[in-house]
Amino acid sequence: MVNLALIGCGYWGAKYLATLTGLADCRLRWVYNRRTVIAASALPPGARFTTRLADILSDDAVQGAIVATPLASHFEIARALLQAGKDVLVEKPFTATAAQAAALRDLAAERGRICMAGHILLYNPAVDAALAAMQGEADFALRYIHSRRASTGAFRADADVVWNLASHDLYLAHFLAGGAAAVSVNAHGAALVDPGQVDAADVAVRYANGVQALIHVSRVQPGKTRETLLVGARRQIVVDDGPEKSVTAHALDGSHEPLALPVAESMPLANQCRHFVDRIGDRQAPLSDAAAGWENVRQLEAATRALQTGQEQSLMQ
Ligand SMILES: NC(=O)c1ccc[n+]([C@@H]2O[C@H](COP(=O)([O-])OP(=O)(O)OC[C@H]3O[C@@H](n4cnc5c(N)ncnc54)[C@H](OP(=O)(O)O)[C@@H]3O)[C@@H](O)[C@H]2O)c1
Repeated sequence: MVNLALIGCGYWGAKYLATLTGLADCRLRWVYNRRTVIAASALPPGARFTTRLADILSDDAVQGAIVATPLASHFEIARALLQAGKDVLVEKPFTATAAQAAALRDLAAERGRICMAGHILLYNPAVDAALAAMQGEADFALRYIHSRRASTGAFRADADVVWNLASHDLYLAHFLAGGAAAVSVNAHGAALVDPGQVDAADVAVRYANGVQALIHVSRVQPGKTRETLLVGARRQIVVDDGPEKSVTAHALDGSHEPLALPVAESMPLANQCRHFVDRIGDRQAPLSDAAAGWENVRQLEAATRALQTGQEQSLMQ
């Protein structure tokens, strides 16, 4: 049995609370909020609510903690948890700067702690279905990724549309591109609602292995689009994770009827929590480890620089 704490129980943390309540082999010992009290009746048996992070840091029974607080607080909270000997899962975006991400990565390595980034799409069965079809198939050898993530809303004081939405597409594209290093990032965007924040943007990434990704994100689009197109040498896959969920394979030249790929029935957040609990148990590196978190944040920083300067940003080291 793995003992956990949930740090931050707002919009997204509430979903963790519901998910962890039903998850096997783990027990929630603490739920923390800065101010907003969570009633005991809303907690699973054995869990306690606190507004003092110190209660969790000093509880030797707590093995792992999930950080679902606003972005600006991720680094300080995760560092305190790692220093207290806890394993951590930090929501996306992993940290506000790449330097902070590198510091968490190095601290976790030094202390022998699990440090996982909440890159939920890597635990999505639709992505698994696409990966299973692409595995070892020359026709699907990946060349180009085009993703669209758009709807109305998702306004956050602490993250523009690139940090809030494109962060998902960036970690997913990096993973699908086989983990190849990003060599350049470019971005264009428009502030449409709040003059201080970009609400619609296009981000382009080139990877060292020649794969390219083009990402469109918007929070001013009517309707909801969640689509990733994976273009291979002769065939392509469309992962539609929007209201009409499907994963389909197509011939690039349109010479075949689309083929629906089977998708397992499971919940991405539950799969992500399961992965964290299992990694606490077996001490293996998580699929979305701190290095993946760092890579994601360094690409987000580059996209922000590109938006500010109008110049493509080289990430060659
Ligand atoms: N993976 C996904 O698809 C997904 C979806 C949504 C959000 N997220 C991520 O989840 C995180 C939380 O987002 P949210 O939408 O749940 O935010 P939220 O609704 O504002 O909730 C934030 C929670 O953190 C607490 N908190 C606020 N400021 C804090 C601070 N400085 N230190 C410690 N705790 C603090 C708040 O407690 P009080 O109410 O007491 O202040 C609140 O319970 C963000 O990193 C976001 O990017 C991920």
